[in-house]
Amino acid sequence: MLDKETLAQVLGTHPFRYYDQIASTNDEAVAWLKDGAPEGAIVIADEQLRGRGRLGRIWHTPKGVALAVSIVLKPLPQQASHLSLLGAVAVAELCESLEIAQVGIKWPNDVQIGGKKVCGILPEAVWQEDKLLGVVLGIGVNVHVSFDETLAQTAINLADATPQVLSRAGLIGRLLEKVLYWRSFLGDSLLLQAWQARLTTLGQQVRVGDVVGLAREVDVQGALWIETPQGKRERVIAGDIEIQ
Ligand code: BTN
Repeated sequence: MLDKETLAQVLGTHPFRYYDQIASTNDEAVAWLKDGAPEGAIVIADEQLRGRGRLGRIWHTPKGVALAVSIVLKPLPQQASHLSLLGAVAVAELCESLEIAQVGIKWPNDVQIGGKKVCGILPEAVWQEDKLLGVVLGIGVNVHVSFDETLAQTAINLADATPQVLSRAGLIGRLLEKVLYWRSFLGDSLLLQAWQARLTTLGQQVRVGDVVGLAREVDVQGALWIETPQGKRERVIAGDIEIQ
């Protein structure tokens, strides 16, 4: 059950806003950030009507079956690019804490269970002229979503992978704890190591846009280095990766 009272029991006095239904928690968190939301403030919804995904895609959050949260963070501008890795590590650890095996991260930030996507992460930076006001870290997790046949080939639910009984309010509390824990390691090599240790992409033949080749390594910015069949090394900072 997800409602304001249950969340208040889990989150205590932590600043949060809860909606039974909303367009997008990211949009609400951006508005709250512009209006002075503190670091760690979290927007939570039971259902999103216009949830947003990466690369302008739609992210579906049907009522009662998923997590849709957006957390306000205020990193230094040079640390902001690591927030998407931070989100992936936090969700991966949440999965591991539920006794789920085969948890991995597909570059850059798709958390997968047995190669299927369980979560999507959308960080959005908010600037006021040349000052970074903060970053909204949007996280959507499938808990017990009904997938059609096509989606079931690439997506998975937490509930399908753990023997534990799940409470969405409890999951949100634990996820927030993990995000705030790793927040204190932003810019530290420990976060990068925790991310890299779970990356399943290295050593695979991949395609990102026009670049095809062997995923060799990641650098301190989290960018992926791909070695093409011609022996050239290409650096990719973002994009959709296809495992060949
Ligand atoms: C992806 O495309 O993989 C990223 C999806 C991110 C979805 C989350 S759900 C909570 C937050 N609100 C949004 O509108 N999007 C993010």
